[in-house]
Amino acid sequence: MSVEIKQFEKYTPVSSEHTEYIKNLTEYCKCSARRPAFHMIPPCGLMNDPNGLAYYNGQYHVFYQWHPFGPSHGMKHWGHFISEDLITWTDSPEILIPSEEYEKNGCYSGNSIQIGSDLFLYYTANYKSPQGKIPKQALAIMSPDEKIRKYANNPIIDETPEGLTGEIRDPFVFRRNGSFYMFLGGGTTDGIGRLILYKSDNGFAWNYQGCIALSGLDVGRMIECPSIVTIDGKDVLFLSFIGKEPEGDRYHNAFSTVYLIGQLDVENLTFHIEACDELDKGFDFYAPQAFYNKENKPVYFGWFGCGVQELPHMKEDMWIHGLTMPRLMSIRNKRLIQNISEKTAAQYDTVVYTGGQVVLDKNSFHLCIPVCQTNMVVQIGQAEDCFKIRVDNEHGKLTLDRSSLLEQFCQEYGVSRSLSFDPGKLTQLDLYYDNTFGELFINKGEDVMTFRAFPKSLVISIN
Ligand code: FRU
Repeated sequence: MSVEIKQFEKYTPVSSEHTEYIKNLTEYCKCSARRPAFHMIPPCGLMNDPNGLAYYNGQYHVFYQWHPFGPSHGMKHWGHFISEDLITWTDSPEILIPSEEYEKNGCYSGNSIQIGSDLFLYYTANYKSPQGKIPKQALAIMSPDEKIRKYANNPIIDETPEGLTGEIRDPFVFRRNGSFYMFLGGGTTDGIGRLILYKSDNGFAWNYQGCIALSGLDVGRMIECPSIVTIDGKDVLFLSFIGKEPEGDRYHNAFSTVYLIGQLDVENLTFHIEACDELDKGFDFYAPQAFYNKENKPVYFGWFGCGVQELPHMKEDMWIHGLTMPRLMSIRNKRLIQNISEKTAAQYDTVVYTGGQVVLDKNSFHLCIPVCQTNMVVQIGQAEDCFKIRVDNEHGKLTLDRSSLLEQFCQEYGVSRSLSFDPGKLTQLDLYYDNTFGELFINKGEDVMTFRAFPKSLVISIN
């Protein structure tokens, strides 16, 4: 199948004149050889951050940053998937289109919260001026009939607090002590990331409170995509950073995300940190957003991508990136444990590795590896075109190595990622591989590594 590719000016919002073209692109993308079976990807074009995640009115809503016209970061819309079970997804035509002057450069990231019977969608109205960005936050309201309308008095926040740059974005609204609070990411004019707090009594009118002190944490030069949930009485805060320096094995991607476990104090503008770590220790991961599922359990989706990436086949595919599987969260020994539900896992055929060479005839599989040896190397692919998982149980080190893949990408950030664990304590690896989308769960969710890989064959051998 082929499709005629059209070029558009970078900040073109979709309109009825593009309907036919987007439909053709979508049909074309359905035949892509790189299409995962179980991960969410855009119908066409580029997908980045998950937005507006909610279980609302009996259904899950996953919005996402979407540039429909091609596999590049252009005019951002909010694409929209709906599901009853977090497994089967329907593409919804009810999307956010940057149609107004105040959002002339895109509808950027944000979250959602139910107020009354409506779902309030908060987002950043991206507005560029010759002097730089002018920060504007906006609101759209989805009613129970799933129709979305922009709030007439947008932007709801239209100011730059003193000392901060114009790059203020990614509202995350939550309830606390009977009020609404909104986190925003940003940075100071002298280049230090800031977590910004606003307060509201009704979700429409917002007042600046100040910036949250983060106990001296290195937050890079800008914070993006804040997100918070409560687990067993503890606050779990996700922050995504631009410009965080690597520390040992951690923070080697273009941009990095951490989780903080502790206590948020909105009155005193502090987050007391009890534990902190890189959320995902792989390569292609950023900007996760947390929410509560049907059972009121905390879950998150992450963006299966990071920054501006050139991936193999993106130009011929006409789509790029996706989302991780939904990850359930819990806390054990001051550590965030991340797992997928049994339902999510049941989509995959499981191969429990018992030895020898296994040739898989499927592009998507779950490989469960009980770790009995002290040292082992799991190779996926042929020797000259493979990725490897190296386990050194004696020294407590695991390495995911992409250096032997024929199709290399993003090498400027390194070709391997490592993590440490208590020596002798690694007992199980679970690799969910979904046609180029890999999620490796270590010791049942003590750590996760997200990565893309494009090996031609999927022979598995372990030494
Ligand atoms: C993070 C991010 C957000 C922004 C969005 C734009 O990946 O840069 O800060 O709102 O992407 O697409």
